[in-house]
Amino acid sequence: MDEHDLLRDAARRAGVYLDSVGTRDVYPGGEALDGLKNFEEPFPERGKDAAETLALLDTFGSPATVVSNGPNYYGFVIGATLPAAAAAERLAAAWDQCAASFTNSPVADVVEKTAARWILDVLDLPRESAVTFGTSATSCGLVCLATARRSLLARKGWDYDADGLIGAPEVRVVIPDTIHITMRKALRILGFGEARLLRTPTDTHGRVIPEQLPELDDMTILCLQAGEVNTGEFDPFGPLVAKARAAGTWVHVDGAFGLWARAAQDLRHLTDGIEGADSWTTDGHKWLNTPYDGAVGICRHADLMAAAMNSDAAYSSASADSQKNLGIEFSRRPRGIPIWAALRVLGRDGVAEMVTRHCRQARRVAEALRTNGFHVLNRCVLNQVLFRLDSDARTAALQAAVAAGGKAWFGPTVWQGRPALRISLSSWRTTDADVDRLVEALLAEKSVL
Ligand SMILES: Cc1ncc(COP(=O)(O)O)c(C=O)c1O
Repeated sequence: MDEHDLLRDAARRAGVYLDSVGTRDVYPGGEALDGLKNFEEPFPERGKDAAETLALLDTFGSPATVVSNGPNYYGFVIGATLPAAAAAERLAAAWDQCAASFTNSPVADVVEKTAARWILDVLDLPRESAVTFGTSATSCGLVCLATARRSLLARKGWDYDADGLIGAPEVRVVIPDTIHITMRKALRILGFGEARLLRTPTDTHGRVIPEQLPELDDMTILCLQAGEVNTGEFDPFGPLVAKARAAGTWVHVDGAFGLWARAAQDLRHLTDGIEGADSWTTDGHKWLNTPYDGAVGICRHADLMAAAMNSDAAYSSASADSQKNLGIEFSRRPRGIPIWAALRVLGRDGVAEMVTRHCRQARRVAEALRTNGFHVLNRCVLNQVLFRLDSDARTAALQAAVAAGGKAWFGPTVWQGRPALRISLSSWRTTDADVDRLVEALLAEKSVL
């Protein structure tokens, strides 16, 4: 099989797979999982045939997928992939660009710069901000926090690049007690010890309480959230950001999914005041429905992010707004291209409509659960439904039963010390009829527990 035939075969197989995402079991069953043994081969002494390699991947790989690119997956705020984003990704894969700078790839540089401009536009964040397209909210958060620390140290005359951290003035970090684990991970990687993080209390919705913030100053980073992972709630940015700005504190907002609320008129109020922060992260691969791994880190102080992330070398220097000078990777794929494609086909009204639809669907689920004796634990301000049954054992059994049924999947969590379940509405493929089938499945399983 030549290269064209091979790629055509891959496209055909992908098409067959996509045709089945509405009907196949959302979580693979025993036989599919057993099939994975076929990948446990010894490393071949001689190379194998490419067509046969693809066939192996499809035959035993496709059945063992979690069908998160389908309409019935409600776990982890994992959106599906918009066809235009998937298609752009496939074309860009054929280009195989190293999207470090204009010199490395003129097309990647220009398209990602357009995507960056559109991101700032649709999220209505300061237009002078730098935008890095990173692999994840985790890595983009790391970039933003590294930029923040370096910048705060520079205020005290400390040259972080030259002298590192030994003997440096302390940079304090304030985190909500509901902060996402990946923010803690980013902080840990950067050397902020867990025990030194200042935890600030949150209310029953998981939001920071402004009156209970620790003392802020100009050597502090305050981490806030747009979209708490369980409840989908937003910190009250107005008062929090005002306090932080008055104290000279750097504010970083983790908005891995919630930042997209800003794109929808009915939801935008949830983010009021967020524009006053210093840096933000969000994902394309969650609510914008772009392929993994596509995330965004935004810093209003473009020069500070570019200085912190610079990777110019004699043989490779580029403008400050080149992606290699804004993020972690030097060689990288143009992950901003599928984001550009998604934004282009959706447009401002399409992003708003999708986000609004998912929130409406979440309320539809919540309402149905509430009227049928489930304990809905959150206010459903966004696309998350957090709920449980009257006993922890029944709650766990319900999740297991729905997952085993294969018609839908959502995950367990712990909320305020007790097991709970979390349904996220974030796939462009999910229709109201899918949502109603999910509710039916929940009611049916609950009635036999
Ligand atoms: C609120 C929140 N922050 C951060 C993350 C981490 O995002 P990523 O998986 O892109 O690193 C997630 C989910 O994964 C999340 O829900």
